[in-house]
Amino acid sequence: MSTTIFYFSGRGNALYAARMLAGKLGDVQLVPVSKAMEEGADFSADRIGLVFPVIDFGMPGIMSRFIRKMDLKDRTKYIFAAVTTGGMPMGTMTQLESRLKKKGLKLSAGYYLVANGTQESLDAWHQKTDEIVSAVRDKKTQAIDNVKFLDKYIMTGLANRLAAVLVPNDDKKFFTDGNCDGCGICQKVCPVRNIEIKEGKPVWLHKCEQCGACFNWCPKKALQGKNLAARTYHLNPYVELKDFFID
Ligand SMILES: Cc1cc2nc3c(=O)[nH]c(=O)nc-3n(C[C@H](O)[C@H](O)[C@H](O)COP(=O)(O)O)c2cc1C
Ligand code: SF4
Ligand code: SF4
Repeated sequence: MSTTIFYFSGRGNALYAARMLAGKLGDVQLVPVSKAMEEGADFSADRIGLVFPVIDFGMPGIMSRFIRKMDLKDRTKYIFAAVTTGGMPMGTMTQLESRLKKKGLKLSAGYYLVANGTQESLDAWHQKTDEIVSAVRDKKTQAIDNVKFLDKYIMTGLANRLAAVLVPNDDKKFFTDGNCDGCGICQKVCPVRNIEIKEGKPVWLHKCEQCGACFNWCPKKALQGKNLAARTYHLNPYVELKDFFID
């Protein structure tokens, strides 16, 4: 039985999760959401997986836009999600469920994978992904957890919505220090083509997802900024730079 997993990842955790699921499930096509947005998505597989991180208490903007564009004729298609989180997912899964519902689609099962920067948290994914794979293989449905009012309506409902408006322009706070040598790696890893190199320096185009890829992959650590994406240096230890090149 075939599966297509659409993923979005800035610092490798969601990519690692998607690969783990693909390896255990078999017959899986892994597709970056940014590529599917540019080239069109094929939903003909028997099962559809969505793998992405929690950003600002909810879904990253690109995932919301992807769901809005999802053109899936078969409304009974089995759709599952694996969402990586630093430990504060709030109402992300119910948000995803309701976005899919608006498209006439059903989130059959949704799981969180916690990555808090420790190796122990990633080690725990082996067991958790076994659980996900066994449920997905049998196309098991699972009620999406009901979360607290505050998490669902204030943190995800309001804060994430506000973030969706503010975040694209937050790259106005990004800048390079004197160590930038114009290598262009930041441009090559930005999943939404938000960076151009002009006169040997990166220039941001204000459609940022705050994924943190450019900061983390800059070999000179030359990128600076005043927000969360800029402050958190952490890369999943099982991914490589070449995994993030978008072309
Ligand atoms: C800008 C930013 C905002 C984040 N916001 C949240 C959040 O609200 N709740 C949470 O649990 N984790 C949050 N995280 C942590 C990520 O969800 C977590 O590190 C995830 O595993 C990253 O996946 P990736 O490595 O595939 O990008 C945030 C990370 C970044 C960079
Ligand atoms: S990756 Fe770093 S050094 Fe290379 S162009 Fe970008 S900011 Fe400059
Ligand atoms: S500019 Fe940097 S933080 Fe923003 S989407 Fe691109 S890689 Fe991610």
